[in-house]
Amino acid sequence: MTVRLRVWRQPGPTVPGHFAEYVAKDVSPHMSFLEMLDQVNEGLIRRGEDPIAFDSDCREGICGSCGFLVNGLPHGPDRATTVCQLHMRRFRDGATITIEPWRARAFPVVKDLVVDRGAFDRIIQAGGYVSVNVGAAADAQAIPVPKPIAEGAMDAAQCIGCGACVAACKNAAAALFVAAKITHLNLLPQGQPEQNRRVVAMVDHADTEGFGSCSNEGECEAVCPKEIKLSTIARMNRQYAWASLFGR
Ligand code: FES
Repeated sequence: MTVRLRVWRQPGPTVPGHFAEYVAKDVSPHMSFLEMLDQVNEGLIRRGEDPIAFDSDCREGICGSCGFLVNGLPHGPDRATTVCQLHMRRFRDGATITIEPWRARAFPVVKDLVVDRGAFDRIIQAGGYVSVNVGAAADAQAIPVPKPIAEGAMDAAQCIGCGACVAACKNAAAALFVAAKITHLNLLPQGQPEQNRRVVAMVDHADTEGFGSCSNEGECEAVCPKEIKLSTIARMNRQYAWASLFGR
């Protein structure tokens, strides 16, 4: 198949960007979207041109490195799918596909489709850890955790920090990411001694980094490749309100 690509090219953070057009020929429908870009880049390199910069690592939907807008949708048109797991058979032969980086003040463009998501790391540094000494690895049954609690923590722990939630939100809010990280730790017994400090520190730090406020649009949940639930945000908001008033 052949597809026409409109790709955001931006040589650096301080240089204005623009859309460039490329025709990708001989694309196998079984290729992943990133493999198609690899093929385009091989052609660009052969012609002595600058390859399109994009992030990837695992290419298995588990690391969170990849991510850009495909026809305006974070990670493209498939639900619960990262762009590295998106396949070209999802597009029709001859389609025009527009790809551009996450758009958010807190995610400055580094180059082309690559943005700096260091703000997420700094939010984690603000409280996304457990500092109580839990000693050596305990037997699995040593700390009983009710099944619904364990499942809730596991569901939240699936967040891979890709940033799609920010890119989909009209406020560029990081609420789903922050809520997932807080929920994961605060639900478990080991995370509870510092849960109040954690929720305040991480939410406040997200504001400092320039992410917007959540206005409950639900776009983040709709595009999350790991299907993190909006209910984690409600839980975070309740905990934040309580911790701000009584719990610090
Ligand atoms: S490259 Fe790891 S999730 Fe896409």
